Amino acid sequence: MEPIQWGSYMELGLPAIDKQHQALIQMINTLAQRLESEELESLPELIQSIVDYGQHHFQTEDAIFSDFDPDYFSWHQPQHHKYCRRINHLAQQFSIAQDKHACAQEILNFLYRWWVSHITEVDLPMKSKLAK
Ligand SMILES: [Fe+2]
Repeated sequence: MEPIQWGSYMELGLPAIDKQHQALIQMINTLAQRLESEELESLPELIQSIVDYGQHHFQTEDAIFSDFDPDYFSWHQPQHHKYCRRINHLAQQFSIAQDKHACAQEILNFLYRWWVSHITEVDLPMKSKLAK
């Protein structure tokens, strides 16, 4: 799996959020590298950090975005909740999985798709609202 390339196409122009998005992408790329090199022992800790950091990030985003456009936000925030339910479920599955590699691969596929599309399709439309 190719690493996710961070670039200006992902930037909102809000350093607090951009830095966190960048850190999340970095964590996902680390997960991909470790899976590729079969460093499975370090995965439980890494997956937990991704779960925890995502929650921390949503608190930051929710606090900022809810002030800008409550209507838009009422559509945006449930997507964070949905993500949390899904990643918590996957992390739980991982903790009991026999095949850690396969389960971690499923987590990676989910994280990869979700974060790229969420940042570019859901977070980025906030850019025009933030600029006003
Ligand atoms: Fe978001």
